[in-house]
Amino acid sequence: MCKKCEKTFYITTPIYYPSDKLHIGHTYCTVAADSMARYMRMRGYDVMFLTGTDEHGQKIEEKANAAGVTPQEFVDNIVAGKGGILDLWKLMNISNDRFIRTTDDYHVESIKKIFKKMYDNGDIYKGSYKGLYCTPCEAFWTESQLKDGKCPDCGRDVHYEEEEAYFFRLSKYADRVQALLETGDFLEPASRVNEMINNFIKPGLEDLCVSRTTFTWGIPVDFDPGHVVYVWVDALSNYITALGYMNDKYDDFEKYWPADVHFVGKEIVRFHSIIWPAMLMSLGLPMPKKVYGHGWLLLDGGKMSKSKGNVVDPVILAERYGVDALRFFLMREFPFGSDGMFSNELLISRINTDLANSLGNLVSRTVAMAEKYFGGVLPEEKQGGEHDSELIEAAGALRDAYQEQMDKYAFQSAIAEVFKVLARANKYIDETEPWVLAKDETKKPRLAMVLYNLLETIRICTVLLTPFIPDSCKKIFEQIGAEADITTWDSAARFGKLPSCASVNKGAAIFPRIDMAKELAELEKAEEERRNGSSAD
Ligand code: ME8
Repeated sequence: MCKKCEKTFYITTPIYYPSDKLHIGHTYCTVAADSMARYMRMRGYDVMFLTGTDEHGQKIEEKANAAGVTPQEFVDNIVAGKGGILDLWKLMNISNDRFIRTTDDYHVESIKKIFKKMYDNGDIYKGSYKGLYCTPCEAFWTESQLKDGKCPDCGRDVHYEEEEAYFFRLSKYADRVQALLETGDFLEPASRVNEMINNFIKPGLEDLCVSRTTFTWGIPVDFDPGHVVYVWVDALSNYITALGYMNDKYDDFEKYWPADVHFVGKEIVRFHSIIWPAMLMSLGLPMPKKVYGHGWLLLDGGKMSKSKGNVVDPVILAERYGVDALRFFLMREFPFGSDGMFSNELLISRINTDLANSLGNLVSRTVAMAEKYFGGVLPEEKQGGEHDSELIEAAGALRDAYQEQMDKYAFQSAIAEVFKVLARANKYIDETEPWVLAKDETKKPRLAMVLYNLLETIRICTVLLTPFIPDSCKKIFEQIGAEADITTWDSAARFGKLPSCASVNKGAAIFPRIDMAKELAELEKAEEERRNGSSAD
């Protein structure tokens, strides 16, 4: 079946370099894509969620040499070894449908053919490259693009390269790429469109150097074996080779291409919104529907890699606070399109206010009251009263408000909608005072109604939080006695799905409160030990 005939959704993350240890900045995009993929699956879409690793290039070759191993051994260890990238995504509960490694045979086969196709259609020609190169970013720069003589993306030193090379006729596609960017839908947030047009297209798009001869760790150009394919041409193509484009490994290209969205960090928007579309134009393929350039998580205004004082290792953070708490924080704290300042204090404070207090406390109080006053099963007889309609209306309208935000990739706002309703439910407890109603036998029907309304509100909110904190939501459903058929997207549109005689199961606190001062002191100690340990290496 083709893409047009089926409700499909294809979402990708960047493929990560297996060079530096991944920190929570890397985890950010993958958790966002995972939340989106889970949301679309819940909506009934046939989702293809792709992530992977970008394993070729000069940077990897240099790191492998320094480590005294072959590049293949080096990447195998970081990707598939113990505590490697695959383990990290498993730990973070990432539900990717496919994982591509650019060293996979089928990808290598496709890249050779893709390069040849662009060469055959006249878009790749041989010349010689004289210019500047940033190895950490694997990017070519002109003198005028540098910032204070350094790489404008990462601020590190660039060096001069001179070699025979193949070039891609990027200049030929400048007008079409500009028109694509100007449609307004293709690249988001909108601020990134002007940045691309003014900084890169208007000054004149030069042809792109797409092969290298000064190192060997790459995919050889089939018809000229001294050359390896430029790592970004190799990497960007992963989005189509992973569907089976020009290989026999998969055959979902017709079904899923064009991608619905590529999530990428802001510094690689240029590659995805200029070079990638031009490559696809050359190959005669449809454009992805959207590139979303998200912001960075920063530490005191600096980049995460220069981490000082704060723990940014996702494994340590997930072990201490739980995977869901970390996932939640990343999506709740920062608007997806902008930069955000990370600190351990902010993380703990968000866990305490939202997860322990607003959500966790509401669930445990409601379940505990249902146990205490009704032995865990609400009676049939109920009586409505003051404040019910406000709560019911808020919970009933929630799904639409949430959807509006999710469909714009505004995760922070979507979660905020849920927490508005949770706040309303907490207020409802103060207003209705169930502990006072419990003292008067004649008010038991009113008490039963209050608890039912609370359980229903929790149910709807929990359905909508599932894409972000899936395991915790499962536990909440168990505690409030919600069977699978009323934890669906459809079921979140209507209030009143729990059986009238709802029965609850008291369980452990899902998000225990963290003692901020004690925890920060312990983190500092752990961080100091880590630093002393690594300086001893
Ligand atoms: O760029 N906050 O790989 P990469 C948010 N292989 N995002 C961050 C971040 C931070 N502090 N630090 C890094 C590459 N990232 C290429 C991609 S795709 C065809 C090839 C994000 O491992 C960064 O913005 O250096 C990028 O989107 C992603 O991590 C991978 O970075």
